[in-house]
Amino acid sequence: MKDRILLVDDEPMARYGMRRALGDDSYHLAEAENGHEARFKIESWKPDLVLCDIRMPEMDGLELLRAVGGEGGPVFIMITAHGTERIAVEAMKAGAFDYLVKPYELDELRLTVENALEKLHLQRENLQLRRQLQATRQADLIGESDAIQRVRSLIDKVSQTDVTVLLTGESGTGKELAAGQIHRSSPRHKGPFVTMNCAAIPKDLVESELFGHEKGSFTGALAQRQGKFERADGGTLFLDEIADMSLETQAKILRVLEDKQITRLGGKQVIRTDVRLISATNKDLCAEIDQGRFRSDLYYRIKVVEIHLPPLRERPGDILLLAHHFLQRCVQRHNLPPRRFDASAILLLQRSSWPGNVRQLQNLIEQAVVLAEHECISAAQLPDELHAEAAGAMPVDRLGERSFAEMKNAAMENYERDLIRRALQESKGNVSAAARLLQMKRQFLQQKMQTLNMNAADFRI
Ligand SMILES: Nc1ncnc2c1ncn2[C@@H]1O[C@H](COP(=O)(O)OP(=O)(O)OP(=O)(O)O)[C@@H](O)[C@H]1O
Ligand SMILES: [Mg+2]
Repeated sequence: MKDRILLVDDEPMARYGMRRALGDDSYHLAEAENGHEARFKIESWKPDLVLCDIRMPEMDGLELLRAVGGEGGPVFIMITAHGTERIAVEAMKAGAFDYLVKPYELDELRLTVENALEKLHLQRENLQLRRQLQATRQADLIGESDAIQRVRSLIDKVSQTDVTVLLTGESGTGKELAAGQIHRSSPRHKGPFVTMNCAAIPKDLVESELFGHEKGSFTGALAQRQGKFERADGGTLFLDEIADMSLETQAKILRVLEDKQITRLGGKQVIRTDVRLISATNKDLCAEIDQGRFRSDLYYRIKVVEIHLPPLRERPGDILLLAHHFLQRCVQRHNLPPRRFDASAILLLQRSSWPGNVRQLQNLIEQAVVLAEHECISAAQLPDELHAEAAGAMPVDRLGERSFAEMKNAAMENYERDLIRRALQESKGNVSAAARLLQMKRQFLQQKMQTLNMNAADFRI
């Protein structure tokens, strides 16, 4: 949709100049010859941007800005006569985006308008994403892709019951987050949520961790200790990395699940436990069974329902939503000034293959946000690993032959090619118009196109 621009000046020749600078095709233009008429048009026609002369009879530009500018109103670019810049500065304080001093170059006017509109679009996009985020409950799995919506709906369903759930998916896809969410939305939410990472505990201590022990039951058992099953009584036990457990321990867990009771190591007393079990793994349990490393009977017991968390690269539509979520959260947590991504950063984030999934995205955004020196974060400020990953579209077997610098160059080249392709598509192969869109000199764009072996004629319809 074309943006609407209102041209406000009491001199017809000045309005004509603005029209010439902006061209007839790119925008919807309307004119007003004084502040009152402009105010009426702003309220009825709702322009996105107002190019406004400051000195006009009756209602001047500054009064107009104060009357209709501000949140939800159009962006203002003020035009002032040489020698009266002081008033323009006042207009900036009153909320104008920028100002131009007469006589100005047509290119200068065009660029200022394009910058203002780009900022307006990003602001609107941010606002929309913020609203979407607010609509999602806090600490929920963020994402609007079909795959994540399916996961959320499965979580809702299993939360109402006590069935055992197996969460599968690559590292960093949100398995632990999903487990917590199942617990919080279940009737057990007032009970404890106990987590145990089976891979992080030395093998000979796993059983004591799970079932507890009596004092003196083994060297080092200096006091009686409750195990995770006991502590999770009335709540949920989350067994993470379940594939990393010995076959003996697996047999014991199976028995606990069937009998709903435990005995501490070295103890005789039978303790009843009422525990809902959720397990997670990033391994292929069927393959583990084939290899004789996982018991098939336990497998069927723990996966009454299996929920698969898809890798981030299979749901690219969620990347920006997640990135904005982590950006806002980081700004709030660290009390930082506002931050946003520019178009180059957005493109790069979307191009990466995210081998570390959401965890990698989260860490990377936090790092970029904390280190950013300006409000706007661009691709150049994102870490090298991301540029390298964006180049990952090349065949995997060639990756080893390439140096990191080569990969980064390839990523930048892909990225530039993409930007130029979009601009040429938009301008239907008109190189001057594409250069304007990209805010670069026509000559420079032509050189770039030559290097990248791109032809404007391919985009002419
Ligand atoms: N859809 C999502 N929305 C918001 N945050 C997410 C989402 N998915 C993952 N996260 C965040 O990403 C990080 C990694 O998620 P989590 O620890 O749940 O992954 P995991 O699948 O358990 O990984 P691993 O297999 O390595 O243990 C966490 O900080 C989590 O809060
Ligand atoms: Mg985990």
